[in-house]
Amino acid sequence: MISNCEVGLARASEAGRIALLSRAAIEHGLAWSWTPQRVLKSVRDAATNAIVARDGGHLLGFAIMKYGDTDAHLLLLAVDYARRRRGVGSALLAWLEVTVRTAGIETIRAEVRAGNLPALAFYRRHAFERQRVLRGYYQGVDDAVVLAKRMCAA
Ligand SMILES: CC(C)(COP(=O)(O)OP(=O)(O)OC[C@H]1O[C@@H](n2cnc3c(N)ncnc32)[C@H](O)[C@@H]1OP(=O)(O)O)[C@@H](O)C(=O)NCCC(=O)NCCS
Repeated sequence: MISNCEVGLARASEAGRIALLSRAAIEHGLAWSWTPQRVLKSVRDAATNAIVARDGGHLLGFAIMKYGDTDAHLLLLAVDYARRRRGVGSALLAWLEVTVRTAGIETIRAEVRAGNLPALAFYRRHAFERQRVLRGYYQGVDDAVVLAKRMCAA
């Protein structure tokens, strides 16, 4: 684990860096849809948590999750390439899982590009289960694997 890793709500001033990390780590090969403006909307949306992991002033990673009544949708999760496999993604997910449990939400849903083996391994490690494949989900370029994690009562 990175010693000074601190997880918390994203600031509006971090929207640009989050959007750049989304483009590089998640949206490569696709049109850039999570622009700074869209990320900023999520930062300000009451039904969404945009969170970051920071090491001092450095952005290590981020996640964006939208909350419904019974399920939560993990829209984005990414860690800076140079900081992977050091527990940052797990720390972001753990923070979100606390909020999900507190809210009494039953299920977390996520989608992953079908060829994204590291992310599939990450979610498997965190007890997400494969639900189905959505053909062409990513702008007709890539299929998505839909994953879900049932949350146990606290
Ligand atoms: C998926 C991602 C967020 C994981 O973040 P991370 O900080 O590297 O993950 P962690 O260090 O917390 O990994 C936890 C466990 O997940 C599994 N895992 C993570 N990356 C893996 C990889 N590349 N290969 C195999 N298993 C992996 C391992 O079991 C790992 O535990 P270990 O390191 O003790 O073996 C990161 O790889 C990433 O940003 N990928 C690009 C963006 C992306 O694909 N996002 C998901 C879809 S939105």
